[in-house]
Amino acid sequence: TTVEWEAGSYDMGGHDTYMHKEICEQADAVDRVLRGRIDDRFATVRLGGLNMDAREARGVRRVKILGCGSAYHAGMIGAQMIEELARVPADAEPASEFRYRNPVVDPDTLYIAVSQSGETYDTLAAVQELRRKGARVLGVVNVVGSAIARETDGGVYVHAGPEVCVVSTKCFTNTAVAFALLALHLGRIRDLSVADGRRIVSGLRKLPEQISEILAQEEAIAKLAAEYADARSMMFVGRVRGYPVAREASLKLKEVSYIHAEAYPASELKHGPLALIEPAVPTVAVLPEDELLEKNRATLEEVRARGGRILAVAHAEQEKADHTIVVPRNEVELDPILMGIPLQLLAYHTALALGRDIDKPRNLAKSVTVE
Ligand code: AGP
Repeated sequence: TTVEWEAGSYDMGGHDTYMHKEICEQADAVDRVLRGRIDDRFATVRLGGLNMDAREARGVRRVKILGCGSAYHAGMIGAQMIEELARVPADAEPASEFRYRNPVVDPDTLYIAVSQSGETYDTLAAVQELRRKGARVLGVVNVVGSAIARETDGGVYVHAGPEVCVVSTKCFTNTAVAFALLALHLGRIRDLSVADGRRIVSGLRKLPEQISEILAQEEAIAKLAAEYADARSMMFVGRVRGYPVAREASLKLKEVSYIHAEAYPASELKHGPLALIEPAVPTVAVLPEDELLEKNRATLEEVRARGGRILAVAHAEQEKADHTIVVPRNEVELDPILMGIPLQLLAYHTALALGRDIDKPRNLAKSVTVE
């Protein structure tokens, strides 16, 4: 099926929706963002477009990542990777909040604007404000030559290919991988060891095949989606590496199925949100097999004790969950890239079960080029 889509026309490749096509092509898309960028000799990466040499990169004292929606969530994953691999303080903030709060712009901070379209007004305005104040700004962008790509000092293209569905999937994943490359680059310029560099490079190379393994579970995930499609609302929880995954999965479900969903750091539940837990409000819990696994399992107990149904995304079956989607293990720093993929399928099949307009959900636009 070929659909005239705004300016361009893109083939749906035999899929019923662009969203399904774009979810299913993520292994190839990740192949593209990695292609030609891995340097085995020094266990690092080659990023040609940064326009920042090693000495300038070493001078970076902090990283501030800005974006909207899924781009912001990918930036949250990127900030964690940069802190873990480069040991540089890093955080992500919604671009709109940043530009409205008259931010203190620090010359030793590297600012990174994240945007699939490269045209999002809030993100572009934040970039222009930063440039006006003399900051160094990089772009992590999908559309080559877009406004944000042109306005920044350099950056990393995510090479996901055209993303037509309003709901971002392959671009989110490719952006997270682009941040893994940037974090490895910054880490190996600093104190990240050759052994750790090799470990991350090996993990990056496994991503496409592991994505394919996850996508092969689509039928089982579709059955789970049908079971949870009656939810009045859904809670998504995760700790540290799992939290940005929970945030993005919650946004996916909201925007494509119209089911209300909220994401919380798992430790926050007992400070109020637990009051919402009941059978009609299932919880999706993201449990990477990292140093917080036992803490995350305790959260399952908290939810279960209050009658909440639980769907876990984990590296092994979770006996305290009603259902578990098991995903392959990569390196702990890269696991968030994989753990979100089954939740894209969960959102997609929930929307399908509810008969939603999947590629063009109500009230939304693909690129928000207005304030
Ligand atoms: C993603 O599923 C949403 N459609 C939306 O949040 C999007 O990520 C946001 O508008 C940012 O768009 P951009 O990446 O093109 O800047």
